[in-house]
Amino acid sequence: MGRRGLSRAIKRVSIPLEALQRYVHAWRFEDELALAGHALPDITSLSLFGDEAPLELEVGCGTGEFLCGLAARHPERRFIGLDPSTQSLNFAARLAFEADLKNLRLIRAPIIALYPHFVPNALDAAYIHFPDPYVRSRQIHKVVNASVLKHLAQAMRPGGTLSFVSDHEALFQEALRLVEAAATDWERLHEERFLRGFTPDVKSRYQLKWERYGVEAFRFEVRRRKV
Ligand SMILES: C[S@@+](CC[C@H](N)C(=O)[O-])C[C@H]1O[C@@H](n2cnc3c(N)ncnc32)[C@H](O)[C@@H]1O
Repeated sequence: MGRRGLSRAIKRVSIPLEALQRYVHAWRFEDELALAGHALPDITSLSLFGDEAPLELEVGCGTGEFLCGLAARHPERRFIGLDPSTQSLNFAARLAFEADLKNLRLIRAPIIALYPHFVPNALDAAYIHFPDPYVRSRQIHKVVNASVLKHLAQAMRPGGTLSFVSDHEALFQEALRLVEAAATDWERLHEERFLRGFTPDVKSRYQLKWERYGVEAFRFEVRRRKV
């Protein structure tokens, strides 16, 4: 199934209104302006869940299979899925609703919209898995860029981890160069420069699709250095 077929399959699924109300924060630039920069809550466990449990963020969570899988296995942690696609995020809300997840919220926004809402030391982990290779503005990738890495580093507690996975070799190499250039913020968690293959407990529909075509994933994991 191509990307269009995948999107049609997601579109056909009906989403209970309660699922959207319970899980999704929708962001709009107009609201951010009207509310003087307060369109979203702070990205902390306290403001999103009312407690101080460890908080993890997936940037570009798509339809949410990987993140909902993590949230189901780790009720002691809190999870945020971020994605600008309404269709994908609605699908993720349905998964969360069906699993009755109490530790997950979804934010419909691009990563850049989160910058003013990040709080230092609030994140324990972040995931950038299978970012779209072609979303660029003036040559700069919208998710894989130095500014995203910097903002994640500032929001991450020392020792917090960033996992990056891609099946697109050129984009993966770009991400690897960026994180190596940010060596004052991040240190690698493995001896190898990068790892091959990715076998989480729950794979996303995107990962499963490309695995069927025999495409290999590349991966690195880094930790926020102590300042
Ligand atoms: C190929 S999907 C991967 C989804 C998921 N991470 C997975 O492993 O299956 C990439 C996702 O990144 C999202 N995306 C695109 N631009 C983005 C941005 N500026 N900020 C955050 N997510 C973005 C897309 O909407 C899409 O759902």
